[in-house]
Amino acid sequence: MISIRRFPIRIALCFLVSFPLWGCASIAQWAAPEKKATTSAPVEFVNAEQEFWTHFHAGHYDRIPQLLETYKRLYVLHPDHPVIAARIGFLHVWHLSERMRMGEPKASVIDDATLCRKFFGEASQLDPKDPRFKGFYAACIMAEADIHQREADTRKGYYLMKDAISDWPEFNLFTGGYVMSQLPWEGSLFDEALEWQWKTLDLCAQTKVDRKQPEYPAYATQDFSGAKRACGNSAIAPHNFEGFFLNMGDMLVKKGEVPVAKKIYSFARLSPSYQQWPYRNMLEDRIRKAEENLPYFRIQKREEISSKNPHLMFHSEAACMACHRTND
Ligand code: HEC
Repeated sequence: MISIRRFPIRIALCFLVSFPLWGCASIAQWAAPEKKATTSAPVEFVNAEQEFWTHFHAGHYDRIPQLLETYKRLYVLHPDHPVIAARIGFLHVWHLSERMRMGEPKASVIDDATLCRKFFGEASQLDPKDPRFKGFYAACIMAEADIHQREADTRKGYYLMKDAISDWPEFNLFTGGYVMSQLPWEGSLFDEALEWQWKTLDLCAQTKVDRKQPEYPAYATQDFSGAKRACGNSAIAPHNFEGFFLNMGDMLVKKGEVPVAKKIYSFARLSPSYQQWPYRNMLEDRIRKAEENLPYFRIQKREEISSKNPHLMFHSEAACMACHRTND
């Protein structure tokens, strides 16, 4: 038995022995050299990129495993290339987001959240100046935290998203609000997510858009460039304009603001390429059935959100494709 007199000596010894060890470990980690980025692109990367964009724009969801294999092979050889890491992140988040395409989504899609967090973490450390990587990193942290019910990580993702928003508001106000569109409709975070969509519109229109009687036509067809390119359609996101209004309309329906939602949905028609948009029927249907969809959009129980019922764009098979799929 330990005598009372000897006990404090043991603690002191233990402290003396373990503290420097703990200190050494932390200092060694802190002092480790940072991973450095390379920008030199191997020829296989150029080929992989061609393949990625062809299949991504065509909506070939079933090609994701093959594309992941290609990019992971490249990553093993070039773990310091930010775009290779980011593509792996994008492929995982695409797989996770459009899981409705599986009909009966597999539980293993939760791994996609973990891997998209991991690879966007690598990409944004290697290229901290790309606000898209940071925004997707934050979104993946939140998605993973939601699966594992880790509130501390949800907060970490939320604050990183705010940081990403200040880096490129036109892009990340949408991204942040989009991930949060799945939160309960009565909560203050859902309200904030919806306000982030309005703020995107304010920035794109360069004026404060009326929240009750929105008007947008005057700005719809202007030429967006620079940071404002996130407001319009581009080679990367050929139907960004239409997809943005589809999601915002869904969020307004979920909030219960049906007349405003119908107006917002209808702005998608202002796009010059609306007639070629593969999801135009989905949007027209949304306008017709907004009232009916409302209770479905408020469903929070995962097992009740299914392909058999109406569901938010965020949960749908158009979650990424609404903006990225090229014309029919
Ligand atoms: C509301 C429309 C919209 C939705 C929905 C959307 N994106 Fe994007 N995406 C954009 C815009 C806008 C850009 C920025 C293009 C630019 O940089 O000019 C972009 C950029 C990208 C890029 C290119 C990044 C690069 O390296 O150039 C990829 C890849 C991508 N998105 C994948 C996705 C995936 C995966 C999803 C679904 C989880 C998704 N996007 C959802 C609009 C959207």
